[in-house]
Amino acid sequence: MKKKIFSGVQPTGNLHLGNYLGAIKNFVDLNNDIQNECIFCVVDLHAITVSQNPKDLKSNIHETVATFVASGIDPKKSIIFNQSQVSAHSEAAWILSCVARMGWLNRMTQFKEKAGKDKEKASIGLYSYPVLMAADILLYDSTHVPVGDDQKQHLELCRDIAQKFNNDYKIENFFIVPEPLIKKEFSRIMSLKDGLKKMSKSEVSDLSRINLTDDKDQIINKIKKAKTDTLPLPSKIEELDKRPEAKNLIGIYSSLMNNTLQKTIDEFAGKNFSEFKEKLSEIVVNEINPISLKIKELLDDKVFLEKILKDGYEKANEIASKKIKKIHEIVGF
Ligand code: TYM
Repeated sequence: MKKKIFSGVQPTGNLHLGNYLGAIKNFVDLNNDIQNECIFCVVDLHAITVSQNPKDLKSNIHETVATFVASGIDPKKSIIFNQSQVSAHSEAAWILSCVARMGWLNRMTQFKEKAGKDKEKASIGLYSYPVLMAADILLYDSTHVPVGDDQKQHLELCRDIAQKFNNDYKIENFFIVPEPLIKKEFSRIMSLKDGLKKMSKSEVSDLSRINLTDDKDQIINKIKKAKTDTLPLPSKIEELDKRPEAKNLIGIYSSLMNNTLQKTIDEFAGKNFSEFKEKLSEIVVNEINPISLKIKELLDDKVFLEKILKDGYEKANEIASKKIKKIHEIVGF
């Protein structure tokens, strides 16, 4: 049976190595398997859950599409579209927010992290954001959702919402309960400045992440300045538990080389970080630099990017409109 793949990325700028290794690289592999039908969404409705400059948002939407294509997603094979253009997403999100329970949303750790201390000032959209994410996934009868580890809890919520809707309205299997596709190792890439914090678009220091638009010199400089400890590289995996920065860099290396952690450790055990960082820079540059150059080239061709979004909209809208129509009938509208 064909797998129906759906995933989304927020167009909030600064797409980075974490987005790439945790999600986009997997999108490319899934896109290349002819058994799969893939849909990749630029989730601008999610982006506005925190304040955005409208001009930046527009250009970040283009940059996200350019990143998908530059990384190797083929818009002829996969649907690439912009969430806000398909109105069924907002509509389904409302209906599903009447199915989701406050208690479920109150458990979402990402809201707690993003809202910070002053929850009263967070937007309602930021709170209900996982319900919109469920709408995205469920509208397309998606069977598999590739994401980084930080989205795991949101996918569990999506599964709960799908099951509750099916039970409440007594229609077995109306919504497909999707499976997460989260890599077992390295599904959470950490900041280059703090091995306990996730690599993130919103981190103030640009040195904390490798952006997919960084050039060769920027990448080399950021890896050179990445935080490490004073010991040589370990010879046993267990030692990494107490050395988060070393673990992260070894993880990035392993992920890019498609190696196990053990293999990388065997290669570098006892060596110092400066030698390891040189090797790491080389492979990050080899992987990211062609993508960064391609992104820049594609950003000069807005007509091409708009065409991808228009074609994607037509295909996505056809699928989502049919599903929302059925949802209307089921709920009694
Ligand atoms: P977003 O835009 O924050 O991130 C996009 C993807 O990148 C992954 N990711 C990471 N993976 C590993 N290490 C990191 N440091 C790291 N940072 C980000 C995320 O897990 C994600 O897969 N809510 C989603 C977007 C979304 C979505 C959806 C995803 C909206 N609707 C439906 C799947 C299905 C988000 O904000 O991702």
